[in-house]
Amino acid sequence: MNRTFGPGSVPLTGEVHVPGDKSMSHRAVLFSALADGTTTLRGVLDSADVRSTIGAVRELGARVELAEQPDGSLAGQVAGWGSSCPLPWGVDIDCGNSGTTVRLLMGLLAGWPTEVTLRGDESLSRRPMRRVMAPLEQMGARFTATEGGTLPVIVHGNAALHPIDYVSPVASAQVKSAVLLAGLRALGVTRVSEPSPSRDHTERMLPEFGVTVYLDPARHAASVTGPVTPESPGEIVVPRDPSSAAFLVAAALLVSGSKISLPGVSLNETRTGFLRVIERMGARVEVVPWPETDGERFGAIVTKHTPRLTATSVSAAEVPTLVDEVPILALIATQAHGETRFERVGELRVKESDRLEAIVSGLTALGAQVSVEGDTIVVNGPTPLHGATLDSLGDHRLAMTWAVAGLVADGPVEVLRFDAVSVSYPGFADDLESLRSQ
Ligand code: S3P
Repeated sequence: MNRTFGPGSVPLTGEVHVPGDKSMSHRAVLFSALADGTTTLRGVLDSADVRSTIGAVRELGARVELAEQPDGSLAGQVAGWGSSCPLPWGVDIDCGNSGTTVRLLMGLLAGWPTEVTLRGDESLSRRPMRRVMAPLEQMGARFTATEGGTLPVIVHGNAALHPIDYVSPVASAQVKSAVLLAGLRALGVTRVSEPSPSRDHTERMLPEFGVTVYLDPARHAASVTGPVTPESPGEIVVPRDPSSAAFLVAAALLVSGSKISLPGVSLNETRTGFLRVIERMGARVEVVPWPETDGERFGAIVTKHTPRLTATSVSAAEVPTLVDEVPILALIATQAHGETRFERVGELRVKESDRLEAIVSGLTALGAQVSVEGDTIVVNGPTPLHGATLDSLGDHRLAMTWAVAGLVADGPVEVLRFDAVSVSYPGFADDLESLRSQ
């Protein structure tokens, strides 16, 4: 489905509840499925990606009774397989578009005596899986994959995994989480360290399930001691998604006369690099913290139109804290004075699309000044943006970036395959529209 945004300078005003956090929703469902007992979940994101995870754990034997709530979220119970239930053999699981589903499942399944086939859509079937298979193989699991290390992958689990001290070459929460989940089934201490800190929801949520996670911040490392079976904490409440909020924050910053409030959003520091970057750019954005829940910080984000933004440099170490926000930050940078640099964002090449290439070609088509130096994106601004037809490439974060571009450009922006938003923010266009009419 294609959809056209703008042109128009209707201010965005009022309040919107963005949906539940995608990363935490996946983990809440997966960890509840692993745990002994029944967990009540609230605030779970209802999107195609999370439905992939729900479908997967059902196939594997968890009982999931989550129902849609008046605010669009999912709530209900997940009864896990815990220590008692051997996982079924020979199951075939479709992970759709969801990298988090497939990579965390690999770690979760690695230590069970089972054989499971994991598949995905065209985009997921192009993405690299070796980064997860390599450490899990060191622990004793086996995988059958394509020659290029892509899906479909057959996981040959091993009930006698050995622990490892894994130094990950990439700062990836999916890799880290997969190894830690496998570590729950290995005898001894499994440790993962990464070049710079990636999102830490696994480390924060596992303790809610009674699993001790040791952190070594100096080494950007986390470890678990196995074997250990997670136990239901009773209830998990998922905060709202800062990555989804980022698109509305950007729209309010860029459209004259706007002032919006987004309550209940996760303020986890490993996710809010986006806010720190726009603050450096001079954005009129205010964060109102609420009391911590389930080990996670959250609060309200209030954003006002900011007529003058200044360029900034985003360092390589910061990138993991805003990795999903680079497309929308690059759009903001087209309206900032000076040169904005996104240092070493090569990871963007292996997301739901080649986002590095797509950002450069899309922003260029809109009339922006953008270039690539190796793996660094350079944006010079401010430049007026013009109407264009842009393809989401089936990538939700590009679809929403191009939609916001339509509010800023002097002509309409037609977004091809806009329906890609269904994987993380199905109600995005409605929320945007409601802010334009409040
Ligand atoms: C995610 C980790 C990130 C992020 C993705 C969600 C997670 O991927 O881009 O949208 O929930 O663990 P990487 O681990 O590949 O950086």
